[in-house]
Amino acid sequence: MEAAIEAKSLSKSYKNVSVLKDVSFSVQKGTVFALLGSNGAGKTTTINILTTLIKADGGTAAVAGYDIAARPHKVRNEISLTGQFAAVDNRLTGRENLLLIGDLRHVADSAKTAADLLRRFGLEEAADRGVSTFSGGMRRRLDIAMSLIGSPAVIFLDEPTTGFDPEARNEMWRTIHKLAEGGTTVFLTTQHLEEADELADDIAVLHQGRIVASGTASELKKLVPGGLIELTFHDEETRDAAAKVLGKSYAHTEGEGATLTITTDGTVAQVASIFVGLEDARIEPTEFSQKVATLDDVFLKVTGTSREDE
Ligand SMILES: Nc1ncnc2c1ncn2[C@@H]1O[C@H](COP(=O)(O)OP(=O)(O)OP(=O)(O)O)[C@@H](O)[C@H]1O
Ligand SMILES: [Mg+2]
Repeated sequence: MEAAIEAKSLSKSYKNVSVLKDVSFSVQKGTVFALLGSNGAGKTTTINILTTLIKADGGTAAVAGYDIAARPHKVRNEISLTGQFAAVDNRLTGRENLLLIGDLRHVADSAKTAADLLRRFGLEEAADRGVSTFSGGMRRRLDIAMSLIGSPAVIFLDEPTTGFDPEARNEMWRTIHKLAEGGTTVFLTTQHLEEADELADDIAVLHQGRIVASGTASELKKLVPGGLIELTFHDEETRDAAAKVLGKSYAHTEGEGATLTITTDGTVAQVASIFVGLEDARIEPTEFSQKVATLDDVFLKVTGTSREDE
């Protein structure tokens, strides 16, 4: 497979503060890649380097086959960027925004392109209304529609769903799925693990300017020990008694609704010993299940911090 983006050892500092350190990854053509990280991790800085808005201090990168330092104009011809903050013109209508970009990019039939995009993004009815009357979700969709004019090979989306309610977010997810189905390479950043899980073929976790883990969602989940057992008890008192018995041998966390989550190495021996321990203490769980690791667990494991702690 051919790479649409190839980044090697990118670094960037502001004054003496190093914000990107040795960042490398590659994104295959026609796939969705998510750069996952918390506030200040360096996501926008990475996007700004790859889209040639700023220069890296060290390292190299190629986008759509062109070196970003040597051929920035070629790179710009092949890509589009939807920034972290919407870039639509509020004084114009939705259609006018699209026509403007169509003309700027010398699209042959910008009226038809605009009409197609309005339909594709569910903005037909609102097309001739001022954008100032659009909801946040509609504005963001228009922003992405604008970025597709001229059929870029690679599209960069910086936090495409931040600030969205669940409905608008699901709609944006559908939009991004459709882009990917159409063969566009999508590079997106997100702070949300479930978003990376939902959308991305490959994920890189960026933490304090470094890639601390990368792979598919299921590869990343394998970084977390396989054997999380969740036990539910009749009441909290029983749960606490179980925690006392099992806590001697196993790491555990107490959860809502009298639950107890035990970390095992996934072997039958450990799982068996948990149930033997409960039986010996005459404690009956009302329910038990094996929990599959989430990307949240991965984030905790590779960064050493829970996102809530930050
Ligand atoms: N022009 C600049 N001058 C100085 N420091 C900067 C500049 N731009 C970014 N930084 C710093 O670099 C670090 C990474 O910033 P960046 O915007 O890339 O993070 P981010 O992952 O996009 O965060 P967010 O999720 O908040 O958008 C931050 O500590 C930020 O303060
Ligand atoms: Mg950012």
